[in-house]
Amino acid sequence: LDELLADGVLGRRVLVRSDLNVPLDGVTVTDDGRVRASIPVVQKLAEAGARVIVMAHLGRPKGEPDPKYSIAPAATKLAEISGLDVRVAGDVVGDSAKQLAAELPDGAVLVLENVRFDARETSKDAAQRAEFAAELAALTGENGAYVNDAFGAVHRKHASVFDIAALLPAYQGDLVATEVRVLKTLTEAPKRPYVVVLGGSKVSDKLAVIDNLLGRADHLLIGGGMAFTFLKAQGHEVGGSLLEADQLETCRGYLSRAKELGCDIVLPTDVVVASKFGADAEHEVLAADNIEGGAFGATGLGLDIGPVSGETFASYIKSANTVFWNGPMGVFEIPAFANGTRAVAGALADSEAFSVVGGGDSAAAVRTLGFNDDDFGHISTGGGASLEYLEGKELPGLTALEGAK
Ligand code: 3PG
Repeated sequence: LDELLADGVLGRRVLVRSDLNVPLDGVTVTDDGRVRASIPVVQKLAEAGARVIVMAHLGRPKGEPDPKYSIAPAATKLAEISGLDVRVAGDVVGDSAKQLAAELPDGAVLVLENVRFDARETSKDAAQRAEFAAELAALTGENGAYVNDAFGAVHRKHASVFDIAALLPAYQGDLVATEVRVLKTLTEAPKRPYVVVLGGSKVSDKLAVIDNLLGRADHLLIGGGMAFTFLKAQGHEVGGSLLEADQLETCRGYLSRAKELGCDIVLPTDVVVASKFGADAEHEVLAADNIEGGAFGATGLGLDIGPVSGETFASYIKSANTVFWNGPMGVFEIPAFANGTRAVAGALADSEAFSVVGGGDSAAAVRTLGFNDDDFGHISTGGGASLEYLEGKELPGLTALEGAK
């Protein structure tokens, strides 16, 4: 970005791809982390006199306008927090966007409507994406530039992330640069012991990352819904808990490979088992090898790791020099099932280790539970993106910037 600023941006229209994909409750932004993380680049450009055009997605609309997924609440937050002159277009590349972009004064910001309101944004057809990218680029008029600051979306081969970088002088935003620098530390030379905590509901979302981490991490702590498939793979019954039966073989394979590679997979030894999924569910703590032996029998649902496991996980974290955490340990939105996630977050907050919290869910979890961003080394704005980075996958948004200005 410094290179672009050094070239001079006064009066130029600069298209910035930001990640404003924030959780909403109606039109209320419930976690503004991504908006806050997007502001520095927008602010730098605006203060240097650029006419900043922000493009971003929100949720997964079906390629057509859908008011539920309007970018407007995120744009309002951006205006509120930054204090900049922020205008919001009623469409992505239509009359409203064109007119507001043409009239945009130096130092002001225009936020385009959700780029996913246009089906070409995410199209598998490269020609469709290129056509849409050209329409976005055209909003900059002459002498435009493109900045990708949407770390959370760099794993997507989408028009506003990938194709557009070929059409305008393209630069990497500071947020992308920071995220990549931090994650590189984890893949290249993590200070040991390196502890990875994985949670969330699905093993199938984390297969490649587990594969990659088995040879790198010293201890892999597994909680959340995905722990039950591992427990079942070890031969324990898991009642009505989340189970991916088609992943049992894979999990068995991980358990035996981990032993060979000297990585220790740590599973919960106790779990909080509930009568049903809900805030008013009855619940009890049971040993992880006796989930069906409790009051709810074979219908009991494991919704959090238990207190002993919380302490065990915390003690691994305390002795670590590097920690990566992705995915909550339980249904943290419900207070009765938030203790495991709180134990992990608390141990990380107390630890001196280099710590990275990755993933929208984990970031939202720590904020919901009352922790501050400063309590952790780095809170990544990327969920899928940070996992794919750790998997060693090529990320289209980064590739597109390579060799670019
Ligand atoms: C995210 O939430 O991880 C990013 O904003 C990307 O969103 P997506 O998974 O809908 O592409």
